[in-house]
Amino acid sequence: MSTEGLPAGLAGVMNRKIVLRQRPVGLVQPDDVELVSEPLPVPGPGEALVKVGWLGIDASVRTWLSKGEGYLPPVGIGEVVRCSGIGRVVASNSERLPVGTLAYSLPGWAEYAVLADDPMLTTPLPDDADPRSMISLYGSVGATAWMGIVDVANVEEGDTVVVSAAAGATGSIACQIAKNLGARVVGICGTDEKCRWLTEDLGLDAAINHRTADLPAALKEACPQRVDVYFDNVGGPILEAVLGRLARGARVALCGAISTYNATERPPGPATYTNLITARARMEGFLSIDIVPRYGEIAMELAAMVAAGKLQHREQVYEGLDAAPTALNAMFTGDNIGKILIRVDPDAT
Ligand SMILES: NC(=O)c1ccc[n+]([C@@H]2O[C@H](COP(=O)([O-])OP(=O)(O)OC[C@H]3O[C@@H](n4cnc5c(N)ncnc54)[C@H](OP(=O)(O)O)[C@@H]3O)[C@@H](O)[C@H]2O)c1
Repeated sequence: MSTEGLPAGLAGVMNRKIVLRQRPVGLVQPDDVELVSEPLPVPGPGEALVKVGWLGIDASVRTWLSKGEGYLPPVGIGEVVRCSGIGRVVASNSERLPVGTLAYSLPGWAEYAVLADDPMLTTPLPDDADPRSMISLYGSVGATAWMGIVDVANVEEGDTVVVSAAAGATGSIACQIAKNLGARVVGICGTDEKCRWLTEDLGLDAAINHRTADLPAALKEACPQRVDVYFDNVGGPILEAVLGRLARGARVALCGAISTYNATERPPGPATYTNLITARARMEGFLSIDIVPRYGEIAMELAAMVAAGKLQHREQVYEGLDAAPTALNAMFTGDNIGKILIRVDPDAT
């Protein structure tokens, strides 16, 4: 590939990117992906070349490596692993994305990426935006938590709200939005350290370690009035346990089902789903990509909570593109608290 058409300062610069070699079974193994080095791609008409500063690791990255159809098509063999991130435009044929623009997009696991000028996929950010908090709070993380708690579950003061993967990126924000609305909030997570963070730092009313607790018994103790709202990030046995404890008129917001993303066979359905009938409850899935035009308005709401000292977020930073497979696997082994970020450009702040 020729580097003609790139600014002189980029002459000879190579791009490192991680491509999919074979579809993983379970966790991503070293042979499933390959780090390749190539000359910088040249942006075509209406496109821009971005130098990636930060990547945000989402559970959806793992779903895109499998064959099934999701809300985006699977990553093809030989293609760069799809992932969201933020970088600065270094060469451009796009009026909306001039050189120097900070852009939130889907650059993938790469040091440089060509971005299409598609408003649904690429958002120019204000020059002084903080890329880290845009990924870990004010972008899709906060919007997903908001959509599930406010739009889908209609959480009200006095509700008992249960959130799974509660110490993760989305879960920890969902818990705090519910607390801000006056709910009684119980988090489910996978270590005692996470439980302590949820109750001592974030002010949750109770936290349950799903790896050590008898879940139905622990839910009964933590939710004596049963569960009005369940924000589900994990599916599987935890969903089954919480459905068994629903209150009348409960709302179950289906955000994700991470316990199933590595599965090689379709997992069994929750045996307790008939409680939806007796509890006159409803269960509703949602995708935050449907509310992209509202991200800015939601970010303002979250920023007000942060300013009032009523919302905090946490990040777990991995250094360098090579760490991407390890960082992705950490979500499935539960080795993360808060949002997983990768600093791709060592100079990115
Ligand atoms: N609907 C949407 O628009 C949307 C948008 C973004 C994300 N999501 C979904 O939101 C969920 C959370 O994503 P995130 O990016 O915020 O990840 P995250 O919560 O930061 O990390 C994932 C967490 O899931 C838990 N987990 C992993 N495997 C599990 C298992 N087998 N059983 C129980 N818990 C397990 C682990 O926590 P513990 O070990 O502490 O349990 C892990 O820390 C995912 O399901 C994702 O697909 C949905």
